[in-house]
Amino acid sequence: MVAVVGPSGSGKTTLIHALAGIVSVSAGEIRFGETVISRLNETQRDAWRHAACGMIFQDFRLIEELDIFSNVILPATFSKVRVPSDLKRRALELLEKFQVPHRSGSVSGLSRGQRQRVALARALLMDPPIILADEPTASLDPENGDRIAHEFDRLARSGKVVICVTHDERLAAYASSVLTMHDGRLIDVNPHRKVS
Ligand SMILES: Nc1ncnc2c1ncn2[C@@H]1O[C@H](COP(=O)(O)OP(=O)(O)O)[C@@H](O)[C@H]1O
Ligand SMILES: [Mg+2]
Repeated sequence: MVAVVGPSGSGKTTLIHALAGIVSVSAGEIRFGETVISRLNETQRDAWRHAACGMIFQDFRLIEELDIFSNVILPATFSKVRVPSDLKRRALELLEKFQVPHRSGSVSGLSRGQRQRVALARALLMDPPIILADEPTASLDPENGDRIAHEFDRLARSGKVVICVTHDERLAAYASSVLTMHDGRLIDVNPHRKVS
């Protein structure tokens, strides 16, 4: 688990979007394992991201026209005509785990904290090997923030790559390294003592 910190406007969101292949880079190389993301075209990057990345956007990017459950199940509907029942069950389990009520309700009535947790459930639905999260606990109360920090720690320990932009000390404390951004540049890479 890697935490990305730095003042507002320092390029944290841009870095996450570049890592995910949402924006292309003008210099340098982005590689996950054998896959050089920065050499793929946009269609290939979209396909790679869909298969490999769970994204939690700073502004959540929920679909207002869809209900809560449909937002969470959305990643499964891109590749499958009919969503398998085990994925539907997983969507419900994730919503329960992150304590989002009224799963058949509209997302428009949800608080920011609830929206953040719907976004988290959606990001984890397909059990992606890479989780990219942009300030994932920013709208959460301490209890829910801790729950998500523990979940990210568990995912990282199970072998997932977790990269999160965060101002949240409790979340950053779980990271094995902390990257500091300033003015669009990475200025510091600090190995971080892992909480045991
Ligand atoms: N390395 C970079 N190259 C070009 N533009 C950048 C770079 N880093 C940040 N920016 C620009 O700076 C602005 C703020 O970046 P952003 O990623 O939103 O910062 P943060 O998430 O840290 O608040 C955006 O307009 C972004 O396009
Ligand atoms: Mg940002």
